[in-house]
Amino acid sequence: MVAAAQEQPIGIFDSGVGGLTVLHALRDRLPDEDLLYLGDTARLPYGTKSEESVQRYASHAAGWLRQRGIKLLVVACNTASALALDALRAQLAPVPVIGVVEPGAQAAVALSHAHRHLVLATESTAARRAYTRAIHALDPVAKVEELGCSVFVALAEEGWSNGPVAAAAAAAYLGSVPERPAAERPDTAILGCTHFPLLREAIATVLGPDITIVDSASTTADAVVARLDELGLRKASAATGSLQLVATDSPARFATVGSAFLGERFTADDIELTDIHPLEIGAR
Ligand code: DGL
Repeated sequence: MVAAAQEQPIGIFDSGVGGLTVLHALRDRLPDEDLLYLGDTARLPYGTKSEESVQRYASHAAGWLRQRGIKLLVVACNTASALALDALRAQLAPVPVIGVVEPGAQAAVALSHAHRHLVLATESTAARRAYTRAIHALDPVAKVEELGCSVFVALAEEGWSNGPVAAAAAAAYLGSVPERPAAERPDTAILGCTHFPLLREAIATVLGPDITIVDSASTTADAVVARLDELGLRKASAATGSLQLVATDSPARFATVGSAFLGERFTADDIELTDIHPLEIGAR
């Protein structure tokens, strides 16, 4: 890659604000890198949409980011990673594309002793079983159960990540898991959706101390660091990295909801509003 590529930002894409949990981990690991984040809030949620729609939306978002100039794409959305990663890799080549499913699977396999995993995800991610395939690639004897928990997405968006409603939803989805016989109980629970780290406490309280919660944000950041080093794409200058936030709908809502995900307050003035219509960006 030419030197100019090193100075380009890392592109991060999610269906909305959820990927800011991944962006947070990236900023911790790579404080010098410039980051360009696109949240496709106009078409959120992806997690209940068909494979065709998710692939089309993800292709438009990736095309928009490529046109702005990025050296690597992080697909921070679990649903887009599960349903569209191969197509995005083909579309963006030679720009490398990293999703969140493989890093999450790696982390879970490394932490598990029982070889039994529970994946908590959106309806579309769970139906596609991408986590099951990624875990089986690393541990063919593992037992993997994928559970759609779409209500958690709405709770996180509403700011109801803690408290009685989150506790009731966690109990409804997961209450029977700790009651299973020990030989049938998973020993990891993978947070296979960008929104679920916000409900971590409610989920962990129901699952109990014997089930380790796995969050793919930090392992995804590790994968990005490794790929940049492998390709010689680290930014050369040591100036603190910039952060550009872009949304396809309501900057005000993006700022209100997104601040909780990033763990840092920002306002609507910090958000660029864009349209990613395919005719304008030359996507497929
Ligand atoms: N970003 C999505 C995911 O990680 C959750 C929100 C949505 O359904 O779009 O699966």
